[in-house]
Amino acid sequence: MNIGIIGCGSMGKMLLEKFSASGMTDAAHLFAANRSPQKLQAVSGLCTVCGSNREAAEHADILFLCVRPADMKTVLTEIQQSVKETALTVSLNGSIPFRLLEQSLPGRRLAKAIPGVTAEINRSQTLVCYNDRVKAADRAALERLLSAIGSVTVLPEAEMGMGSELVSCMPGFIAAVFDVLCRAAKQHTALPDAQIADMVKETLAATGALMCQQKLSFADVLDRVATKGGITAEGADVIYRMLPETADELFRRTLEKRRITAEHAERSFR
Ligand SMILES: NC(=O)c1ccc[n+]([C@@H]2O[C@H](COP(=O)([O-])OP(=O)(O)OC[C@H]3O[C@@H](n4cnc5c(N)ncnc54)[C@H](OP(=O)(O)O)[C@@H]3O)[C@@H](O)[C@H]2O)c1
Repeated sequence: MNIGIIGCGSMGKMLLEKFSASGMTDAAHLFAANRSPQKLQAVSGLCTVCGSNREAAEHADILFLCVRPADMKTVLTEIQQSVKETALTVSLNGSIPFRLLEQSLPGRRLAKAIPGVTAEINRSQTLVCYNDRVKAADRAALERLLSAIGSVTVLPEAEMGMGSELVSCMPGFIAAVFDVLCRAAKQHTALPDAQIADMVKETLAATGALMCQQKLSFADVLDRVATKGGITAEGADVIYRMLPETADELFRRTLEKRRITAEHAERSFR
């Protein structure tokens, strides 16, 4: 099976490196194209470098489109005659609906795949959705390939937005919340900043591992740590009283931003 990657920026390069390192493919079956040739030099040892997007598309059984939404229409227009009839084309962009991709690739098998930053340590929960042309064998092939960067969660297209908030944006939200907690802690301790951050990071990682290994819910963790009337319960009470409004505002704002981004993407297809 041949894999094509168009766009070798942050995501395309990561996929090339991970697919190559997984041993599931090799340079002879991995075809890459990029607008500026410089980026291809960095990955030339891992893949077959293509002189055009069309060339990558012609070879690919699974073709990843790793370009920004503003560049998607140009790429689709360029490759639409070159994509194999049986190929699965995978957009890494969450804002462009199948409805628009299908304008350039009518009747074709399409998927969207949204990896997270934790792909770097092979722990991405990659979100995937499919259009109705995709066959079981296509799904199996894509999900096997994406196992090189972690697990796969299949969602309906309409849930990819909130799914992305919960998975690919969440590392950023987590970082922001714990940054706020660390900054507040600094006001009440003589411990150095770096030590505060390290203590919280390790606790965060260990709490996540504990919850996953022992299948604990958030309520289970609270039950274990927050003795009624104790110190943890006092702090948790503040969080439950004051954070819900912030959390509501966060999702209101991010989902609105997502809607505007989708509108921009739509405009770039006109
Ligand atoms: N970054 C993330 O964490 C993340 C996570 C999930 C999904 N995504 C999605 O993945 C997609 C790529 O994001 P990214 O962060 O990898 O962007 P990026 O780093 O900007 O990479 C985009 C690449 O596309 C290339 N490109 C642009 N137009 C092209 C064309 N016409 N033909 C061939 N190559 C072209 C660019 O080449 P040049 O060298 O010429 O600029 C660049 O190397 C986006 O749609 C994004 O929404 C990103």
